[in-house]
Amino acid sequence: MCAIWYNVGMDEYEQIISTNKALYGALGADYADGEVDLQKVKDSGLWQEFLDGLNGKRVLDLGAGVGVAAKELADSGYDVIAADIASSMVAEIKKKAPRIKAIEMNALDVDRLPAEFDGIIAIHLIQHFNKAQLEELFKKIHGQLADGGEFLLVFTNTCYKKTGRQLESDDGTEYIWWHKWLLEDIAPLLADAKFKIVKFQVQKTNSPFIFICKK
Ligand SMILES: C[S@@+](CC[C@H](N)C(=O)[O-])C[C@H]1O[C@@H](n2cnc3c(N)ncnc32)[C@H](O)[C@@H]1O
Repeated sequence: MCAIWYNVGMDEYEQIISTNKALYGALGADYADGEVDLQKVKDSGLWQEFLDGLNGKRVLDLGAGVGVAAKELADSGYDVIAADIASSMVAEIKKKAPRIKAIEMNALDVDRLPAEFDGIIAIHLIQHFNKAQLEELFKKIHGQLADGGEFLLVFTNTCYKKTGRQLESDDGTEYIWWHKWLLEDIAPLLADAKFKIVKFQVQKTNSPFIFICKK
């Protein structure tokens, strides 16, 4: 049924947000990649390096999913806000880790949060934005960090062959909006947002792109 509204009256911004909100909203607690994906970041050594570089305990997880990374941070004593566009994901975080402040929010509204953060993480979120949205997102994340704050960015470009709205499920009922980002796309966008890249790992077999950036 998505194909009907896709062509009538929605601009690309809304199509992207709605497509992914519907997909992940339906998944909720069934989203199962979080543990494995966090482990890959830990295995790179850059998770610990990100934590070591934080000047304080206030951390925001954007596109938090079921809250795997957010819970890991909260369990280690960080003061965590976890935001996701899908209400079912937010409900799962609240159930699993009541200490975390979990909120339903489009990451592009991050500038509406009345808080400054020492760290912001986005693990496998940016695949769900087009270029204009990503430019906006990076600038807003930069604006939401305290001076010297850090941004941990993790993404991969191997899940789907192309950029755009495409079928996610074999039965032809579920869609995803996904962007195949290249390294050469991302570095200039981070620089435009005034981030300094302090460390990065290029994608390898079974391991994602990982950037630690500083404000
Ligand atoms: C691939 S999952 C990754 C989840 C989590 N970061 C992890 O690593 O387990 C992407 C998540 O981003 C969320 N998402 C997609 N578009 C979003 C948006 N515009 N704002 C906030 N969250 C969004 C989805 O609902 C989903 O939970």
